[in-house]
Amino acid sequence: MRIDKLLANMGYGSRKEVKKLLKDGGVTVNNEMVKDAKLHVNPENDTVSIYGEEVHYREFVYLMMNKPPGVISATEDAVDQTVIDLLEPDHQIFNPFPVGRLDKDTEGLLLITNDGQLSHQLLSPKKHVPKTYFAVIDGEVTDKDIEAFKEGVELDDGYVTKPGELTILKSGIRSDIELTITEGKFHQVKRMFEAVGKRVVYLQRLSMGPLKLDEELELGEYRELTEEELTNLLDRE
Ligand code: URA
Repeated sequence: MRIDKLLANMGYGSRKEVKKLLKDGGVTVNNEMVKDAKLHVNPENDTVSIYGEEVHYREFVYLMMNKPPGVISATEDAVDQTVIDLLEPDHQIFNPFPVGRLDKDTEGLLLITNDGQLSHQLLSPKKHVPKTYFAVIDGEVTDKDIEAFKEGVELDDGYVTKPGELTILKSGIRSDIELTITEGKFHQVKRMFEAVGKRVVYLQRLSMGPLKLDEELELGEYRELTEEELTNLLDRE
Protein backbone atom coordinates (compact mmCIF):
# COMPACT_ATOMS: atom_id res chain seq x y z
CA MET A 1 0.00 0.00 0.00
CA ARG A 2 1.23 3.52 -0.74
CA ILE A 3 2.49 5.37 2.31
CA ASP A 4 0.24 8.39 1.62
CA LYS A 5 -2.84 6.16 1.43
CA LEU A 6 -1.91 4.32 4.62
CA LEU A 7 -1.44 7.56 6.54
CA ALA A 8 -4.61 9.12 5.14
CA ASN A 9 -6.56 5.96 6.06
CA MET A 10 -5.21 6.22 9.58
CA GLY A 11 -6.58 9.74 9.89
CA TYR A 12 -3.37 11.72 9.51
CA GLY A 13 -5.05 14.13 7.11
CA SER A 14 -6.02 14.25 3.47
CA ARG A 15 -3.64 12.89 0.85
CA LYS A 16 -2.45 16.49 0.35
CA GLU A 17 -1.84 17.04 4.05
CA VAL A 18 -0.07 13.72 4.29
CA LYS A 19 2.17 14.71 1.37
CA LYS A 20 3.19 17.80 3.31
CA LEU A 21 3.85 15.73 6.41
CA LEU A 22 6.15 13.55 4.33
CA LYS A 23 7.85 16.55 2.76
CA ASP A 24 8.41 18.07 6.20
CA GLY A 25 10.35 14.95 7.18
CA GLY A 26 7.81 13.78 9.77
CA VAL A 27 7.61 10.20 8.56
CA THR A 28 10.00 7.29 8.90
CA VAL A 29 9.67 3.75 7.57
CA ASN A 30 11.88 1.26 9.38
CA ASN A 31 13.70 4.23 10.96
CA GLU A 32 14.53 5.86 7.62
CA MET A 33 13.03 9.18 6.70
CA VAL A 34 10.66 8.91 3.75
CA LYS A 35 9.56 11.80 1.57
CA ASP A 36 8.15 9.95 -1.43
CA ALA A 37 4.35 9.69 -1.16
CA LYS A 38 4.37 6.88 -3.71
CA LEU A 39 6.58 4.60 -1.62
CA HIS A 40 4.97 1.22 -1.03
CA VAL A 41 4.93 -0.14 2.48
CA ASN A 42 3.69 -3.39 3.90
CA PRO A 43 1.64 -2.54 6.97
CA GLU A 44 2.27 -6.05 8.36
CA ASN A 45 6.05 -5.90 8.30
CA ASP A 46 7.20 -2.29 8.01
CA THR A 47 7.42 0.01 11.00
CA VAL A 48 5.95 3.39 10.18
CA SER A 49 6.42 6.27 12.61
CA ILE A 50 5.32 9.88 12.67
CA TYR A 51 7.70 12.20 14.49
CA GLY A 52 9.04 9.16 16.30
CA GLU A 53 5.69 7.69 17.27
CA GLU A 54 4.81 4.32 15.80
CA VAL A 55 1.64 4.06 13.72
CA HIS A 56 -0.32 0.84 14.20
CA TYR A 57 -2.10 0.27 10.95
CA ARG A 58 -5.35 -1.57 10.64
CA GLU A 59 -8.05 -1.30 8.06
CA PHE A 60 -11.19 -2.13 9.99
CA VAL A 61 -12.71 -1.28 13.31
CA TYR A 62 -15.54 -3.23 14.98
CA LEU A 63 -17.39 -1.64 17.87
CA MET A 64 -20.29 -2.76 20.03
CA MET A 65 -22.39 0.06 21.46
CA ASN A 66 -25.20 0.00 23.96
CA LYS A 67 -27.21 2.60 22.08
CA PRO A 68 -28.94 5.09 24.34
CA PRO A 69 -32.39 6.52 23.55
CA GLY A 70 -32.52 9.96 21.91
CA VAL A 71 -29.60 9.29 19.59
CA ILE A 72 -30.00 8.29 15.97
CA SER A 73 -28.37 5.41 14.11
CA ALA A 74 -26.76 7.43 11.34
CA THR A 75 -23.37 8.89 10.56
CA GLU A 76 -24.55 12.50 10.52
CA ASP A 77 -27.66 14.50 11.16
CA ALA A 78 -28.50 18.19 11.02
CA VAL A 79 -30.55 18.11 14.22
CA ASP A 80 -29.93 15.08 16.39
CA GLN A 81 -26.88 13.58 17.97
CA THR A 82 -25.78 10.42 16.16
CA VAL A 83 -24.16 7.25 17.44
CA ILE A 84 -20.99 8.30 15.62
CA ASP A 85 -20.91 11.54 17.64
CA LEU A 86 -20.59 9.35 20.74
CA LEU A 87 -17.33 7.79 19.52
CA GLU A 88 -13.84 8.90 20.48
CA PRO A 89 -11.91 10.69 17.69
CA ASP A 90 -9.56 7.67 17.62
CA HIS A 91 -12.48 5.60 16.37
CA GLN A 92 -14.17 8.27 14.28
CA ILE A 93 -11.10 8.47 12.03
CA PHE A 94 -12.01 5.05 10.63
CA ASN A 95 -15.24 6.52 9.20
CA PRO A 96 -17.38 3.81 10.73
CA PHE A 97 -21.14 3.52 10.33
CA PRO A 98 -23.89 1.67 12.20
CA VAL A 99 -24.88 -1.74 10.82
CA GLY A 100 -28.60 -1.27 10.32
CA ARG A 101 -30.81 1.08 12.23
CA LEU A 102 -32.36 1.18 15.62
CA ASP A 103 -35.14 3.74 16.10
CA LYS A 104 -34.27 6.92 17.97
CA ASP A 105 -36.06 5.64 21.08
CA THR A 106 -34.70 2.07 20.84
CA GLU A 107 -31.82 1.03 23.06
CA GLY A 108 -29.31 -1.76 23.02
CA LEU A 109 -26.94 -3.62 20.77
CA LEU A 110 -25.58 -1.71 17.82
CA LEU A 111 -22.61 -2.84 15.78
CA ILE A 112 -20.54 0.00 14.35
CA THR A 113 -17.87 -0.74 11.76
CA ASN A 114 -16.27 0.40 8.53
CA ASP A 115 -16.34 -3.16 7.14
CA GLY A 116 -18.88 -2.80 4.35
CA GLN A 117 -18.76 -6.46 3.43
CA LEU A 118 -19.58 -7.64 6.93
CA SER A 119 -22.36 -5.07 7.19
CA HIS A 120 -23.83 -6.28 3.92
CA GLN A 121 -23.71 -9.90 5.08
CA LEU A 122 -25.47 -9.10 8.33
CA LEU A 123 -28.17 -7.01 6.70
CA SER A 124 -28.80 -9.07 3.60
CA PRO A 125 -32.38 -10.41 3.63
CA LYS A 126 -31.02 -13.63 2.14
CA LYS A 127 -28.93 -14.38 5.23
CA HIS A 128 -31.83 -14.39 7.73
CA VAL A 129 -29.64 -13.17 10.57
CA PRO A 130 -31.70 -13.48 13.77
CA LYS A 131 -32.13 -10.41 15.94
CA THR A 132 -33.55 -10.68 19.44
CA TYR A 133 -35.33 -7.82 21.19
CA PHE A 134 -36.63 -7.30 24.69
CA ALA A 135 -39.77 -5.18 24.80
CA VAL A 136 -42.36 -3.86 27.20
CA ILE A 137 -45.82 -3.98 25.67
CA ASP A 138 -48.82 -1.90 26.60
CA GLY A 139 -51.42 -4.68 26.69
CA GLU A 140 -51.64 -8.33 27.61
CA VAL A 141 -49.54 -10.50 25.34
CA THR A 142 -51.08 -13.95 24.98
CA ASP A 143 -50.43 -17.38 23.49
CA LYS A 144 -52.54 -16.25 20.54
CA ASP A 145 -49.90 -13.63 19.77
CA ILE A 146 -47.20 -16.30 19.97
CA GLU A 147 -49.11 -18.31 17.36
CA ALA A 148 -49.77 -15.25 15.19
CA PHE A 149 -46.08 -14.28 15.18
CA LYS A 150 -45.12 -17.88 14.41
CA GLU A 151 -47.36 -17.76 11.35
CA GLY A 152 -46.31 -14.24 10.34
CA VAL A 153 -48.46 -11.13 10.79
CA GLU A 154 -49.65 -8.62 8.21
CA LEU A 155 -48.12 -5.18 8.67
CA ASP A 156 -49.88 -1.89 7.88
CA ASP A 157 -48.51 -1.92 4.31
CA GLY A 158 -49.80 -5.42 3.60
CA TYR A 159 -46.42 -7.13 4.02
CA VAL A 160 -46.64 -10.47 5.82
CA THR A 161 -43.68 -11.03 8.10
CA LYS A 162 -41.55 -14.15 8.25
CA PRO A 163 -42.09 -16.26 11.38
CA GLY A 164 -41.03 -14.57 14.61
CA GLU A 165 -40.34 -16.34 17.88
CA LEU A 166 -42.18 -14.66 20.72
CA THR A 167 -41.54 -15.50 24.37
CA ILE A 168 -43.69 -14.02 27.12
CA LEU A 169 -41.57 -13.16 30.15
CA LYS A 170 -44.36 -11.47 32.10
CA SER A 171 -47.99 -11.08 31.11
CA GLY A 172 -50.33 -8.40 32.45
CA ILE A 173 -51.75 -5.04 31.41
CA ARG A 174 -48.10 -4.40 30.66
CA SER A 175 -46.19 -7.39 29.36
CA ASP A 176 -42.48 -8.14 29.08
CA ILE A 177 -41.50 -10.16 26.05
CA GLU A 178 -38.59 -11.31 23.93
CA LEU A 179 -38.98 -11.51 20.19
CA THR A 180 -36.58 -12.98 17.65
CA ILE A 181 -37.00 -11.98 14.02
CA THR A 182 -34.89 -12.65 10.96
CA GLU A 183 -35.82 -9.55 8.99
CA GLY A 184 -35.25 -5.85 9.45
CA LYS A 185 -38.24 -4.00 8.06
CA PHE A 186 -38.68 -0.40 9.10
CA HIS A 187 -40.06 -0.29 12.71
CA GLN A 188 -40.64 -4.01 12.40
CA VAL A 189 -41.12 -4.97 16.05
CA LYS A 190 -43.41 -2.02 16.74
CA ARG A 191 -45.46 -2.73 13.63
CA MET A 192 -45.74 -6.44 14.43
CA PHE A 193 -47.31 -5.59 17.76
CA GLU A 194 -49.55 -3.00 16.13
CA ALA A 195 -50.72 -5.82 13.85
CA VAL A 196 -52.05 -7.64 16.93
CA GLY A 197 -53.52 -4.47 18.47
CA LYS A 198 -50.75 -3.73 20.98
CA ARG A 199 -48.15 -1.06 21.47
CA VAL A 200 -44.43 -1.28 22.21
CA VAL A 201 -43.55 1.17 24.99
CA TYR A 202 -39.92 0.15 25.43
CA LEU A 203 -37.61 -1.63 23.01
CA GLN A 204 -34.08 -2.91 23.45
CA ARG A 205 -32.02 -5.07 21.09
CA LEU A 206 -30.26 -7.92 22.86
CA SER A 207 -28.49 -9.73 20.04
CA MET A 208 -27.72 -9.83 16.35
CA GLY A 209 -26.58 -13.17 14.99
CA PRO A 210 -23.95 -14.52 17.38
CA LEU A 211 -23.26 -11.08 18.86
CA LYS A 212 -24.81 -10.42 22.27
CA LEU A 213 -25.13 -7.11 24.07
CA ASP A 214 -22.46 -6.84 26.77
CA GLU A 215 -24.43 -6.05 29.93
CA GLU A 216 -21.42 -4.29 31.40
CA LEU A 217 -21.85 -1.51 28.87
CA GLU A 218 -23.84 1.44 30.20
CA LEU A 219 -26.15 3.24 27.80
CA GLY A 220 -24.01 5.24 25.39
CA GLU A 221 -20.88 3.22 26.14
CA TYR A 222 -19.10 1.10 23.59
CA ARG A 223 -16.09 -1.15 23.23
CA GLU A 224 -14.21 -2.99 20.51
CA LEU A 225 -15.36 -6.53 19.77
CA THR A 226 -13.23 -9.26 21.30
CA GLU A 227 -11.31 -11.61 19.00
CA GLU A 228 -13.86 -14.31 19.78
CA GLU A 229 -16.88 -12.13 18.99
CA LEU A 230 -15.28 -11.02 15.76
CA THR A 231 -14.34 -14.55 14.70
CA ASN A 232 -17.89 -15.76 15.35
CA LEU A 233 -19.33 -12.88 13.33
CA LEU A 234 -16.94 -13.29 10.41
CA ASP A 235 -17.48 -17.07 10.43
CA ARG A 236 -21.09 -16.50 9.43
CA GLU A 237 -20.05 -15.23 6.04
N1 URA B 1 -38.01 -2.80 15.39
C1 URA B 1 -38.48 -1.57 15.70
O1 URA B 1 -39.69 -1.34 15.66
N2 URA B 1 -37.59 -0.63 16.04
C2 URA B 1 -36.28 -0.84 16.12
O2 URA B 1 -35.52 0.07 16.47
C3 URA B 1 -35.79 -2.11 15.81
C4 URA B 1 -36.67 -3.08 15.43
